[in-house]
Amino acid sequence: MNVIRTIHEMRSASRAARVAGKCLGLVPTMGALHEGHLSLVRAAKEQCDAVAVSIFVNPLQFGPKEDFAKYPRTFERDCELLEKEAVDFLFAPAAEEMFPPRAVTYVTVEGLSEKLCGRSRPGHFRGVTTVVSKLFHIVEPDAAFFGQKDAAQATIIRRMVRDLNFPVEIVVGPIVREPDGLAMSSRNAYLGPQQRRAALVLFRALTEVRNRFDQGERNAGKLIAAGKQEFRTEPAVRLDYLEIVDPETLEPRLSVSDRSLIAVAGFVGSTRLIDNITLPG
Ligand code: PAF
Repeated sequence: MNVIRTIHEMRSASRAARVAGKCLGLVPTMGALHEGHLSLVRAAKEQCDAVAVSIFVNPLQFGPKEDFAKYPRTFERDCELLEKEAVDFLFAPAAEEMFPPRAVTYVTVEGLSEKLCGRSRPGHFRGVTTVVSKLFHIVEPDAAFFGQKDAAQATIIRRMVRDLNFPVEIVVGPIVREPDGLAMSSRNAYLGPQQRRAALVLFRALTEVRNRFDQGERNAGKLIAAGKQEFRTEPAVRLDYLEIVDPETLEPRLSVSDRSLIAVAGFVGSTRLIDNITLPG
C-alpha cells in the first residue's frame, strides 16, 4: 500500500492509475477503522480496479465544543487493516496540506444541511461537503463509497455531486452492526461498559418503530411516539431526535406509505451516536 501525504503525489498516483485504464474507487474516512469501513473497502475492491482510502480527521465538521481533539486516532492499526484488504493508496494528509493558509471557500448544500444532525450540529454538513469536494478534486475517483449509518450525509453528498456535476458515482453500503444490534461507529470506543449497554436503546427504538410498522401502523406521529417511548426506559441516554423523513429531501413525513428514513440520534454521556433504518425495509 502506497501511503501518500501530499495532494500532488495523490493526484499523480490516481492519474497514473486512470491512464493505465483502471477504474478508481475512493473510501473517505476519518480513521479509527472498524468493520463498517472495511465493508466499504471490500465493496470498492469488488467494483473498482484500484482503491484509495483517505484518513483525515476533518476539523471543519466538528463544532467548537465537539470531540475533534479526542476523536480516536489509530493510524498504525488502520494501516495494518488496510494492508490486509490490499488497498492500493492510503491518502493521509496533514491539516496544513489540506487547507491553504487563509482558506475561506466552502461548499454548502443549502437546506438539506440544516436537517437532522445539521440542526443540532450547525456547520457540520458544510464541513463534510467542503472536505469531500476537496477529496474528489484531489483523488478524482470514478466511484466513492459511504456508509448508510450517516444517511443524511449520503443524501447530501449525492445532491452535491448532482448539483455540481462531479463525475463520481456515489455508492452507499449498508450499516454494519455488532451482534447485539449496535451500529458500528468509531465513537463507540468512547463508551464504558454501562454506556455501551445503554447505547442499545437507539437500535431498540428503531426496532420498535419497525415492529409497529410491520403490525400495520403507518402514521408517522404514532410511530415516532412508539420509538420515543423506548428512550423513557433508558435515562442514561438523552434523545437528540427521532424523525421519519423522505430519504431524498430529508423533509418529515406524515405517513410511512412511501420509502422513509427513520433516523435517530442520542447522547450517551457526552458521546453522540446516530442510527437509522429504512421502511419499507
Ligand atoms: O463519514 C465520515 O467519516 C466523514 O464525514 C467523511 C465522509 C470522511 C468526511 O470527513
